[in-house]
Amino acid sequence: MQGTAYALETAMIAFRGFEDVIRRVHEYGQEHVFAFWDMLDEPGRRELLNELRSVDFSQMKDLYTRASQGATQQPGFEPAPYIPLPASAGDRLEWERARERGESEIRAGKVAAFLVAGGQGSRLGFDGPKGMFRVGPVSGKTLFQIHAEKILKYGRKYCVSIPWLIMTSEANHEDTVSYLRGEKFFGLDGKDVLVFPQNMIPSMDERGRLILEEPGRIFRNPDGHGGSLTALAGSGALAEMERRGVRIISYFQVDNPLVRIVDPVFIGFHAMREADISSKGLMKAYPGEKIGVFVRFEDGTTGVVEYSDLSTELQEQRDANGALRFCMGSIAIHLFGVSFLKSITGGSALSLPFHVAKKKIRSHAAGGPIELDGYKFEKFVFDALPLAPRNVVLETSREDEFAPVKNRTGVDSVDSARELMTGQCRRWLAERSIRVPGKVRVLEISPLCAVEAEDLPSNLSIPDSETVYLE
Ligand code: UTP
Repeated sequence: MQGTAYALETAMIAFRGFEDVIRRVHEYGQEHVFAFWDMLDEPGRRELLNELRSVDFSQMKDLYTRASQGATQQPGFEPAPYIPLPASAGDRLEWERARERGESEIRAGKVAAFLVAGGQGSRLGFDGPKGMFRVGPVSGKTLFQIHAEKILKYGRKYCVSIPWLIMTSEANHEDTVSYLRGEKFFGLDGKDVLVFPQNMIPSMDERGRLILEEPGRIFRNPDGHGGSLTALAGSGALAEMERRGVRIISYFQVDNPLVRIVDPVFIGFHAMREADISSKGLMKAYPGEKIGVFVRFEDGTTGVVEYSDLSTELQEQRDANGALRFCMGSIAIHLFGVSFLKSITGGSALSLPFHVAKKKIRSHAAGGPIELDGYKFEKFVFDALPLAPRNVVLETSREDEFAPVKNRTGVDSVDSARELMTGQCRRWLAERSIRVPGKVRVLEISPLCAVEAEDLPSNLSIPDSETVYLE
């Protein structure tokens, strides 16, 4: 860009009370952010300077340097141990024991649900918070409604009010709050729904410069789902949970309508093994599947290695029985101990590493908006795993718990999620020996009716029509 010209003009900028900010902008070679200074009115200028005041220029410089240098060296690792799905009578007994323990934790009000919904959902291309996307195959219920009704049902089942924590981001906070309010929290008590935004971090162009989204605003993106732990503590929600006697935070993503939000078995294993973090995993479908895998690092801690950081050789490596060696994929379902979260977020701030993604970013230019290649920086929640002295990884089955809604069609799409939802209903009905007539193509069960097969009344009769919705 017209770098030198800017430097000369913008060197003249002065604004009382912001001398330090302006000096830092120059010190770090970012004076192009004042390119449209002359177009801004006084409040606009003040706003831009305030925004710049919140930028950690030294951190941004480091992030850019690392991004432009490429991949960093990983420590050595091997596959992490995990609790497999029950195969024997002994296993089933253990799972039953875990369920009982989990149920007693839930009944005692020790569990809160934590939804991360701050993402931009760019692949889905939906204008609005992703949680407002209608995914119910028959009902057209939104992701938010499905999650809310599950929480309500779990609460009714266990005679307890389960708090629902929701992390949003700057771009979707207002819309999310007004939507949930407008829907009267789908029957939940508003006092039990705590919504708070995550932090934002500037993106950078390929030359390490901040990007102007508008003449007086720099482009920032939410700081990743890993920002959820800092946001939970920083918003006061973690302290509030502690005050209410909550001991376990059940973390899930907005775009998985199949997730068991409050799973007694998972909670039971977590409690019985006194874990700090527990995670659900599933068997990878094929070596190149784009999900991270659970590993045990050289220092004995558990973690997740992103698919993009696992070499093809390791992805394809097999054990003596011919099974994939790194087989346990992470599906972003975790339990966090409240006391553990308190310990890692209190005192010195939690600093999970930033990962970099190269993305197209809309930027303001003299001739109008342009798209440029830039770097977005995000923290990943699974980077907290190695901080936990005690971990549990529990296997779950894909068809019962993983229906990611990332794209409109194809793999991990609205279509595939709806099919998986119908598939789960069929399995639940079969489990209860309830006949599904031949004409039925699409099935949906309201979470208010059942969050697992055992909730279904055995005398249900299913109408012989193409679409069936059970309330
Ligand atoms: P994804 O990584 O799939 O991102 O988020 P996304 O924003 O939903 O979709 P794309 O990549 O732009 O298409 C997984 C989960 O993490 C949350 C999302 O809302 C989703 O529940 N998330 C992601 C956050 O809460 N904050 C973030 O900064 C990023």
